[in-house]
Amino acid sequence: MAKATAAQASKGSSRLNLVIPPLVIPKDGFQPAPEIEQPNIFPLEWPVKTEPLAALYEKAKRQAWNPADLPWGQLDPAQFTPEERMGIMYWYTVLSVFDGSGPAVFAKAMIHSYELHTEDPIRKCFFSVTRDEMNHEECCQRAIQRLVPGGPLRFEARTELERAALNNIQWLSHNGARYWRGYSASIDKYPLSVLFTSFLLGEVAASTLFYEMSRRTTLPIFKSVFTKVGQDESRHLAICLKMLEDDWPGLTEDYKSLITKQLRAGFVFLSMILWEPPNMFWELPPYFLPNHRTLMQYARQAGLGVLSYEDQAENWRMAIAKVRKVVGDWGIKFPAIPELDIEGVDVGNITAADIIPVF
Ligand SMILES: [Fe+2]
Ligand SMILES: [Fe+2]
Repeated sequence: MAKATAAQASKGSSRLNLVIPPLVIPKDGFQPAPEIEQPNIFPLEWPVKTEPLAALYEKAKRQAWNPADLPWGQLDPAQFTPEERMGIMYWYTVLSVFDGSGPAVFAKAMIHSYELHTEDPIRKCFFSVTRDEMNHEECCQRAIQRLVPGGPLRFEARTELERAALNNIQWLSHNGARYWRGYSASIDKYPLSVLFTSFLLGEVAASTLFYEMSRRTTLPIFKSVFTKVGQDESRHLAICLKMLEDDWPGLTEDYKSLITKQLRAGFVFLSMILWEPPNMFWELPPYFLPNHRTLMQYARQAGLGVLSYEDQAENWRMAIAKVRKVVGDWGIKFPAIPELDIEGVDVGNITAADIIPVF
């Protein structure tokens, strides 16, 4: 094969002097490639309809951060009592049911968006959310392992509190697994707009939660973490809203009722981290909640920034009011949330198969 000579390069031409083999043009014309059976990620193209979504993807790249660069060394286990260490570890484990499952949940949604041949910025936004959630999961991992080596599941539980924490964590995993199976099995059945509405509640909840906690925590490392994570979550919220703006006008009445039910499912699922789990979906032993309250109180005492029960309820009401306004504008009814005295449509029982929302 011919090679570019030093002489050519010195003349400033980047073109190589190669022999071009001849084309073959069949006499009867080209054969069309077989039709691609869908769903499939092929054929690949990069259509852009919604410029603001492309801009949000650019923003995500610019706001990228690395959890490993945060000063984790400041988090000195010796500054806490053993109970407080257990409390913070427990809060982060509860969070990881939502934030830690984010990478797998959004990766699946991203693949789904490729198979649906959505416009390119939607796929890229899902990718950026997956990337962010991996950072959020890493924060859970770092906080847990710094305070309780072997946590959340493989530490040696020696005291009553530690045994109670470990058992609660095992029950959380049991429910997380039920959520994953339901989500995994149903993702192909929902149109993207239904998925986005479910994500919407999670993102509103997450951005409000981390914003509030960043204000309240007395521990500088967690102030940094909550601020960074909160910034990501508000971008996720902006992504969801933009995607929905495009998708909602064409929704059928059936899908609108499905969304109403999804909003209730979101409340039921997310209340575990945002408030307290309602008596639906969650399969828990009777001692779970009292022990959960004890552990949460230790996390509060340690200065993590966990809101009080009343403030959590108020925070939920605010987040729900925001989502209610958005969906109301599109003619979607809101479900009743009797736990917070919010009136609306009765959507009945919520099961594992109904739950999509994540952070
Ligand atoms: Fe997250
Ligand atoms: Fe998020």
